[in-house]
Amino acid sequence: MHAAEALLRASARWLAVVLPLGVLLRSAFVWLYTPGPFYWGNLIHAHSHTAYFGWAGLGLMGLILSLLPRLTGRPVAGSRPLAWLLRLAPWAVGGALVTFAWWGYAGPSIAFAALNEVLWVLFAVVFWREVRGRPVREWPAPLVLMGAAVLMLVLSLSGTTLVIVSEAVLDSAFPLLYQAGVYLFLELYADGWVQVGLMGVVLALAGWRPEDQQAAQRLAAAALLLVAPAALRMLIPRGLVGPLAWLSIAAGALFGAAQLGFLARARRLRLPEAARPWWHLAGVSLAVKAVLEFLPLLPVWSDWALSRSPVIAYLHLKLLLLSSSGLLGGLAAVRGAASPWAFRLFATGSVLMVAALAAHGFLAEAIPATSWPLYLVAFLAAIPAAAGGIWAANGPRGGPGSRSA
Ligand code: HEM
Repeated sequence: MHAAEALLRASARWLAVVLPLGVLLRSAFVWLYTPGPFYWGNLIHAHSHTAYFGWAGLGLMGLILSLLPRLTGRPVAGSRPLAWLLRLAPWAVGGALVTFAWWGYAGPSIAFAALNEVLWVLFAVVFWREVRGRPVREWPAPLVLMGAAVLMLVLSLSGTTLVIVSEAVLDSAFPLLYQAGVYLFLELYADGWVQVGLMGVVLALAGWRPEDQQAAQRLAAAALLLVAPAALRMLIPRGLVGPLAWLSIAAGALFGAAQLGFLARARRLRLPEAARPWWHLAGVSLAVKAVLEFLPLLPVWSDWALSRSPVIAYLHLKLLLLSSSGLLGGLAAVRGAASPWAFRLFATGSVLMVAALAAHGFLAEAIPATSWPLYLVAFLAAIPAAAGGIWAANGPRGGPGSRSA
């Protein structure tokens, strides 16, 4: 089987694990119970790491590999790094799922997380071998964004390295350093690798124009310069003050503005029919997310950033409504359209779930009686969201708009 297809299939299967696990987790907010021998905190780690490593990570790698031939003019070459990537991927993701679920953050899960990092380096090597024949200034617009995304995937390793240095070498003497490492990793992975990579996928599939070239270069440069400093905003509620705090707020707001700039241009693209509803949903979510990047300018933001429900709502706006919808649109364009009902279920459920969580963040403390009903809505909405996502990724393909790109 072609490497891209193998990665896309694997990522779709991991989505079928991640989403039911998410629904199970949401049920615990409605009926407080103990999940057999597991701790809820460990299951949350298993859910989030499998979603990042298996679903989003392998899915974006598969999309990029399936689009590279139309950007380089030749098929992706077989190579040892690619063979190792495919061989190790099921063990790396499966191992992380099991060890995080059982032990949470501990030796075995950290070892499997490190194995996933090996996969990212292997992917970066494969990508570089495909594109190195052409000077960077001649790369077409989608490749510029994909290249920046791959670079940020590699740079995200700086975050995990900082965590290891802070814990193993400095013996947790500087808690802010540990937090800085965590957020550096999370932002470079989600806002950098996944979001910027998806923008490259959109341009590749929607037929970019010569005038998109400069815009893509500016966006790639903005992402490379701003995403890492913007990650430090998350330390402000935990005590970061002074010029670094202001620099991080400015970096986040500027990156939000760059993303709005991408959306303004994307409105003129001819999206493949099969991907259109998914990418419209992802586009609206990106607009909301980009506007939220300006919130840290408000002093009250620090309180919101420490409150669990708004944080989880924001995360799922980013990872479910924006990134997963973007990936599902890419899958539809590359492998064939999914049922329109899969989209309707996913979109309605996901929007309702994120809205209920956001409402919980702002209402539950002031009016405690709203807490349980809002958690119930978030749980009930998660069921169609998960069913629609799994159906779209794994269900039968075909229908109007398939392979229209
Ligand atoms: C139907 C879809 C989903 C449901 C019902 C769901 C549910 C949940 C729940 C209940 C939590 C824990 C919330 C808390 O601790 O307050 C959570 C956390 C999280 N989820 Fe999801 N999720 C879904 C999809 C996704 C997807 C697609 C991704 C990534 C691509 C994702 C990434 C995360 C992350 C990063 C966290 C935070 C983990 C942490 O703070 O340690 N989720 N999710």
